[in-house]
Amino acid sequence: MGAYEDVLYDDYSFAEAHPARIGAVGALFGVRPPTGPIRVLDIGCGLGGHILPMAELDPDGEYVGVDLSAPQIALGRQTIDALGLGNARLVCADMRALPEDLGQFDYIVSHGVYSWVPEDARRAFWHILDRHLAPGGIGYVSYNVYPGWRHRGTVRDVLTRLVPGPGAATDRERITAARDVLSVWKGALSDRASHRLAALLGELDLLAQTSDAYLLYEHLAPLNEPQWLGDVLDQATAAGLSYLGDAELSSMFPDLAEETRTWVAERAPTLEAAEQVHDLLTHRLFRRSLFVRGTVALDRHLHWRRLQGLWLFSRVTPVDETPDTWRSENGTDLTIEDPALARAVRLLVQRVPAALPFERVLDEVLGPDAPTRDRAALGRGLLQLATRGMIELRTDFPAIATSLPDRPRARAMARLQAARNEEGAVNLRHERMKLGATDKAVLAHLDGAHTRADLLTLLRERAQDGPVEVRIDGELRTDDDALEHALELVLDRMLRAAFLFADDEASTP
Ligand SMILES: C[S@@+](CC[C@H](N)C(=O)[O-])C[C@H]1O[C@@H](n2cnc3c(N)ncnc32)[C@H](O)[C@@H]1O
Repeated sequence: MGAYEDVLYDDYSFAEAHPARIGAVGALFGVRPPTGPIRVLDIGCGLGGHILPMAELDPDGEYVGVDLSAPQIALGRQTIDALGLGNARLVCADMRALPEDLGQFDYIVSHGVYSWVPEDARRAFWHILDRHLAPGGIGYVSYNVYPGWRHRGTVRDVLTRLVPGPGAATDRERITAARDVLSVWKGALSDRASHRLAALLGELDLLAQTSDAYLLYEHLAPLNEPQWLGDVLDQATAAGLSYLGDAELSSMFPDLAEETRTWVAERAPTLEAAEQVHDLLTHRLFRRSLFVRGTVALDRHLHWRRLQGLWLFSRVTPVDETPDTWRSENGTDLTIEDPALARAVRLLVQRVPAALPFERVLDEVLGPDAPTRDRAALGRGLLQLATRGMIELRTDFPAIATSLPDRPRARAMARLQAARNEEGAVNLRHERMKLGATDKAVLAHLDGAHTRADLLTLLRERAQDGPVEVRIDGELRTDDDALEHALELVLDRMLRAAFLFADDEASTP
């Protein structure tokens, strides 16, 4: 079996690599998002788990995925057929020899490929950007980085020495052997209480929760070469490209003490240099870097007006009993004293799982005739929250339900993934969500044609055939009360996890 053929790589979508997210980072730094239909190229697209859901929601766009692995491309094409996508195609090709006539793309993305291919393929990637990026287009590349991988690499070093190599065993056998090593290793370390080993134990705990595919392609792959950011930037510059920034905006503004910030600024006068120092100080493991053609004029001066035309999505939750204090996803609490900004955050939190356009937030909080001074102050506050990862920015946002429609409708790709019994499915924000058996049984039928009563009938049938088990307090239940309760829980989860389209009325923001 060749690479990626015995154990398929996880069929993931990556929200940070979605054009709406990439385009928003570009917009902040002065790159205008394309106005017409977009063209997107995914290099090393695997099964198409990233590019095909984008194509599904953007019938006017054009989506092309390229991968070396014929079995993965064949499976991806089955998905294209199942979804009837006329705007997507998957090409089986080596990135070192792409067909010349692929054309120009507004977005070229390559996730989880750069560190895992040999140097000539890495060089080819820059050549692809040079040849196929539209004049105002943006390239995205993700890769493992040093210095964080210095310690994560210990796991790989140990597994390389204790697990048979790719030629000596099948992928499945190698995964089983690796799981065995990890478990013995954890036992051996657990007896040695030492803070020196804490980080390593953390890595082992993390790996116990990850998929076999991740273990295989991250730690057992023949090639995994983490990069120094400086080397990546040198390669990009040599190909005539400029660094735009990081797809994870908040990582460009790390939460450092004021004196540390000053210390960095003294040593690193440019954004590129500061980013390299941040990697050193924050022990960074992974990067998602964005590039534009060297001819694109970037404006690094962040201005609140750049939020115009963007959508804002709240990534904070309220902290119980503390008014106007919000918790970010990394656990940082922020109390907002400015009343207008606090109102804006409340508005966005109420809107979750959907978002609001920036202008709409200003109008709702300040009124449509508010003076520019007030709009600027609120705009600056919202921009600061965006740089802290508390508000996510997008150039576009799908019509996501904020209350349960009578006949709930999920996207076709998610329904297909549920029907295929995949571990997770892509939601309308292009995030991959894990699903349980009952979630899948329901999600597969959320096609907008079924009422709750129909869904209950379907669930009853599934509970009788066996694949769905409803337990309340540990007890197996098949009665209607229990099934109805389970259905309500699943539908509520689907709603909150952004799987449901708004019906026409609710879609107006
Ligand atoms: C780790 S997987 C990542 C797949 C997908 N982008 C993701 O992140 O889920 C790396 C992919 O790169 C593909 N690949 C490796 N070398 C390649 C090459 N020279 N040309 C095109 N694709 C390549 C592999 O077949 C594989 O699907």
